[in-house]
Amino acid sequence: MSNAPQPAAEKLGVLLPGMGAVGSTVIAGVLAIRAGLGQPIGSLTQMGRIRLGKRTEKRNPLIQELVPLTALDGLVFGGWDIFGGDMYDACTTAEVIDRSLLDQIKDELQTIKPFPGAFDSNFVKRLNGTHMKTGTRREMAEAVRADIRAFKADNGLQRAVMVNCCSTEVYIESSDVHMTIESFEAGLDADDQRISPAMIYAYAAIQEGVPYANGTPSLAADIPALEALAHERSVPTGGKDFKTGQTLMKTVLAPMFKARMLGVKGWFSTNILGNRDGEVLDEPEAFKSKEKTKLGVLDSILRPEHHPELYGDLYHKVRINYYPPRGDAKEGWDNIDITGWLGYPMQIKVDFLCRDSILAAPIVLDLALFLDFASRCGKKGVQEWLSFYWKSPITAPTVYPEHDLFVQLSKLMNNLRHMVGEELITHLGVEYYEEG
Ligand SMILES: NC(=O)c1ccc[n+]([C@@H]2O[C@H](COP(=O)([O-])OP(=O)(O)OC[C@H]3O[C@@H](n4cnc5c(N)ncnc54)[C@H](O)[C@@H]3O)[C@@H](O)[C@H]2O)c1
Repeated sequence: MSNAPQPAAEKLGVLLPGMGAVGSTVIAGVLAIRAGLGQPIGSLTQMGRIRLGKRTEKRNPLIQELVPLTALDGLVFGGWDIFGGDMYDACTTAEVIDRSLLDQIKDELQTIKPFPGAFDSNFVKRLNGTHMKTGTRREMAEAVRADIRAFKADNGLQRAVMVNCCSTEVYIESSDVHMTIESFEAGLDADDQRISPAMIYAYAAIQEGVPYANGTPSLAADIPALEALAHERSVPTGGKDFKTGQTLMKTVLAPMFKARMLGVKGWFSTNILGNRDGEVLDEPEAFKSKEKTKLGVLDSILRPEHHPELYGDLYHKVRINYYPPRGDAKEGWDNIDITGWLGYPMQIKVDFLCRDSILAAPIVLDLALFLDFASRCGKKGVQEWLSFYWKSPITAPTVYPEHDLFVQLSKLMNNLRHMVGEELITHLGVEYYEEG
């Protein structure tokens, strides 16, 4: 088969701009799992199975048996942060994983230290970093590229991927400097203030041939200049904003209402969150970035333009409240006002007492492994088959994003089948006697 992926070489670098709660929880989690101290619950690449052929064939291998992914033992972690210290410090600050578990992997955690971050406080106003690069945007971009090369050389790596886990930046829209590779490069040289740190990391990754995913709502590789660069450099990308708690629930419930032609009059979502992410999102301009990625979901699932009588007046509101006592243990409430037969009103209440970083960590792992696999299959640009993981999937400009979790899952599975030369599953029915 001509497009057969190359087998996974032994090691893969996983580079995380932003080594806070999510970043440190992924790293500590993988180290703990490697040491036999936990299970990779929530990770499709580690625990998921994939059906192959007809149901009668009973072929359901683990995804990792079908697809040549790098094993957890082969992952090497690095990254950047605007606070120094090591990953043991980051984990104890984040207070996600119990100290008793952390202490068993302390030595290894202490060997992982972030490079100084590429930062501009105009984009993240609530943080005062102490471990940062200096210089113009061009100088910061070249320094991040040098870090990537050094990290690969020091660890004997042929391949690496980058997953952005930095704090959410303020909301900005693309402008002329973001439009072409030439204008973007000129903007780096001129230290153009419209180029954000998230874009600098994305640019550095793409230039170094490192697949890039954006776990945050910040504007990054989804500007025309970097989309063009990813194609030119044959680098797969993906984004944006990990789909973890409330939006995950939304993209399961909304398709159900639509499937049953139930109306939705209102959807009020609120959260209390006390980690550093919550503190950053307490700032209105950063919240606006998050609000954008959270709000888009319902309209593209329910399509009010097709069903004005069911969804035309939908009132959708999302709030995030910073509430320090909760730390990373977020609580997300949803009140959903729905209508049924003859317009009779009903209500649904969801109260998800979740753990933000515990939900996000397996997503980071899966994205790193799948993007590396995509790269080995010769894929480039936005990988829409990974929409499953995103609150706001980036798509081609001509199509709307697919948000329904189970459509996204089917798409992901069929892409995997296709990439290894297996027959696609269409779910077209077969006659009962054929099925047995
Ligand atoms: N469930 C989830 O946790 C979840 C879901 C979706 C998206 N996200 C997004 O993931 C990101 C990380 O979340 P978190 O809970 O780990 O937040 P966090 O505040 O604990 O970690 C972010 C880290 O990024 C660092 N940072 C900020 N700007 C930086 C820069 N320019 N360079 C290097 N480091 C920088 C901060 O110092 C901090 O350590 C946030 O943008 C968040 O919105 C999280």
